[in-house]
Amino acid sequence: MPTMGALHAGHAELVRLARARADRRAARVVVTVFVNPTQFNESADFDRYPRTLDADLRACADAGADAVLAPAPDTVYPPGRPIPVPDLPGVATEPGLEDAFRPGHFAGVCQVVSRLFDLTEPAAGVFGEKDWQQLQVIRAMTLAQGRPIDIVPAPTVREPDGLAMSSRNRLLSPEARAAAPAIPRAIRRAAACDRPEPAERALTDELTAGGIAPEYAVVRDAETLLAPCGRSCRVLVAARVGGVRLIDNAPWPGPSEAPAT
Ligand code: PAF
Repeated sequence: MPTMGALHAGHAELVRLARARADRRAARVVVTVFVNPTQFNESADFDRYPRTLDADLRACADAGADAVLAPAPDTVYPPGRPIPVPDLPGVATEPGLEDAFRPGHFAGVCQVVSRLFDLTEPAAGVFGEKDWQQLQVIRAMTLAQGRPIDIVPAPTVREPDGLAMSSRNRLLSPEARAAAPAIPRAIRRAAACDRPEPAERALTDELTAGGIAPEYAVVRDAETLLAPCGRSCRVLVAARVGGVRLIDNAPWPGPSEAPAT
């Protein structure tokens, strides 16, 4: 389970999911903690990314990990030995979402995930659904590389007010933390609309009412992340709240109400 550390309750759920899966296969759970410099397109974002290794080690042990690999930068990127950036799948370059707002990000993610896969040789990799485009990118990359690794999605874990758990939440000021639940609120409103255009309008309206100007707020195909939607769709939002970049997503349309009995 690759992570960048600053682990929270959402990560602990991912480790528990990995633990349950590993137990069924007599396998072991290895968590990697590495703040990967090559996927940050802003050096200030890299510098202020929270680093909490001691707490991370305790969280991994409590959630049932067998081992933590927290490599030094020289282990991942040995001096004098360039680590290749794999060919990027279309979903990493075409949708105009994370790819457009964080240029170079997926090149860094694919580079480090390939490298971590080489170092750990896993049978499966667990990745959170909160980073939905990343999940699709890693799936497509792993398939294209012919690696026999199952990419296992793990559901987003939320705070009681709906905010998706994220290592970046701890960077939010009290005011920004109070404003941030407008994102899951907007997503819930969009999920209740039955066509993409009204859903995207509902997203923008709700975010604007909450004082948030999104980088994107869209309904897209769940796999390609292109418009129009195919059989399965996703609503996706990215926004800076008080200077902290947050992302979130959910299936679209949302689950219909259970019929009254
Ligand atoms: O999602 C993350 O935390 C990172 O992008 C990942 C997959 C660990 C690669 O550094």
